[in-house]
Amino acid sequence: MIIIAHRGASGYAPEHTFAAWDLALEMGADYLEQDLQLTSDGELVVMHDPTLERTTSGIGQVMAHTLAQIQQLDAGSWFDPKFAGAEVPALREVLQRYGSRARYYVETKNPEDAPGMEEKLLALIGEFGLRAGAVEHWQVLIQSFSRASLLKIRNLDAELPLIQLVEKEFTSAEIRAQLPDIHEYAVGIGPARTSIDDQLVEATHDYGLVIHPYTVNEEHEMKRMIALGVDGMFTDHPDRLRQLIV
Ligand code: G3P
Ligand code: CA
Repeated sequence: MIIIAHRGASGYAPEHTFAAWDLALEMGADYLEQDLQLTSDGELVVMHDPTLERTTSGIGQVMAHTLAQIQQLDAGSWFDPKFAGAEVPALREVLQRYGSRARYYVETKNPEDAPGMEEKLLALIGEFGLRAGAVEHWQVLIQSFSRASLLKIRNLDAELPLIQLVEKEFTSAEIRAQLPDIHEYAVGIGPARTSIDDQLVEATHDYGLVIHPYTVNEEHEMKRMIALGVDGMFTDHPDRLRQLIV
């Protein structure tokens, strides 16, 4: 059972900050999640939203700002004043900080609005020496809601492991109908927890794919997912899941 720290241990610290990922590792998470956005000067930063308002002291689009401008913002106070001064990390800084002692679950967010995002991600994976680990034991998993983005990555490097995310509106039956296609390019799927049932888990496994639902925070939901046989899950509370599976 794989524990994926959703935006870090984001139930306890501001999402996508070093505080959240440090805590996730302390809590025994297997993977640290990152959502990617592209700045106006072509740097990959780790933020969920394409806009700055919700999680920083800034306003406007991420892609309308340079990395330097974004890193002047406070990405911690919105969550709790004790995290004041936390920075929005560049993906480069995340890989520098954790290196090969962490596993990464990286999402290309809104890739259609960020041309070159995939190439930049693959270049960083190579620069930090993570490609072999990604290919051999999934040290890096690349996820996206965008099939086109995943196919682009596959075209750039056919060996990297890919996870097709599925929007929460899709039912179990609708996702099952997509599995023959997804199986051609991905190693797994990431559906919403509300889409999961025993038929979906079984069909996913029949195709040789793994299934990692998002975002599972309540203990009773974690227990339900475990009973259904999922391979891992995204959670804001890695400690809760760790406690259930030790
Ligand atoms: O990547 C899995 C899950 O995080 C998808 O939802 O919106 O939190 O990126 P979101
Ligand atoms: Ca995500």
